[in-house]
Amino acid sequence: MNVVKGRFIGVGVGPGDPELLTVKAWRLIQSADVLSFLTNERGDSQARSIAIDAIDAATSLPKEIPIYMPMLNERSLANKAYDKGAERIAKKLEKGLDVIFLCEGDPLFYGSFSYLLERLEDSFECQVVPGITSVNAAAATLVQPLTMLKESFAVINGRHSDEQILAALAQHDSLVIMKAGQARSRILTLLEQAGRTADAQYLEYIGRDNQQVVADVTELDLDHGPYFSLFVIAPHDHRQR
Ligand SMILES: C[S@@+](CC[C@H](N)C(=O)[O-])C[C@H]1O[C@@H](n2cnc3c(N)ncnc32)[C@H](O)[C@@H]1O
Repeated sequence: MNVVKGRFIGVGVGPGDPELLTVKAWRLIQSADVLSFLTNERGDSQARSIAIDAIDAATSLPKEIPIYMPMLNERSLANKAYDKGAERIAKKLEKGLDVIFLCEGDPLFYGSFSYLLERLEDSFECQVVPGITSVNAAAATLVQPLTMLKESFAVINGRHSDEQILAALAQHDSLVIMKAGQARSRILTLLEQAGRTADAQYLEYIGRDNQQVVADVTELDLDHGPYFSLFVIAPHDHRQR
């Protein structure tokens, strides 16, 4: 007998505040057969912890596929972890079980889901439930419009070169610099060089208990920040333009 294969569903759980989980995400998580998510070396998962209320509200305990992801810039290790994770997920899908992959923020915006999607999409039906991104949550936390009228807006990240970051700072009215942790002191220097220090604000762990907002970035240590951190750069005279 042919078993109908399960669906691989990327579910965005938002940036941190559990109340920013969508109703659709809640419903799918609560009724999931199999949940998957990335973990760090201690087995902690940011995405799972954001969704914990929905997981706890489930009537039956879902099976879990934690995928350990080494937090190193070494791409080959990450690729191996995604290969292994995709194999384990595929086994459940072959048995006809849907697999819900929990993804911090939105699954298709710098989301780990995308790397599993490219490994599974040729063989299985895949779906996505969008989530609120850290960019939207940052703007909301600051009560700061990102773009108005004809202003341009760009998302870049701390792994871009100095030249790329300086060009973007010169070209765009507003920007978000993601993955700022390792690059924090370099970004502060580049903001200074570009004359954009006064436009910049820094946020870490948005929506979590340890959230930090630094409105004057000259107060930041010239040191690494945590992985969950970003800069918002937007003109102060926004509203008058
Ligand atoms: C792999 S990307 C994931 C982005 C996520 N899918 C989203 O939609 O926002 C990780 C980067 O997103 C940013 N980020 C995600 N969640 C954050 C949070 N709660 N607070 C601050 N930055 C966050 C950080 O810049 C971090 O390095």
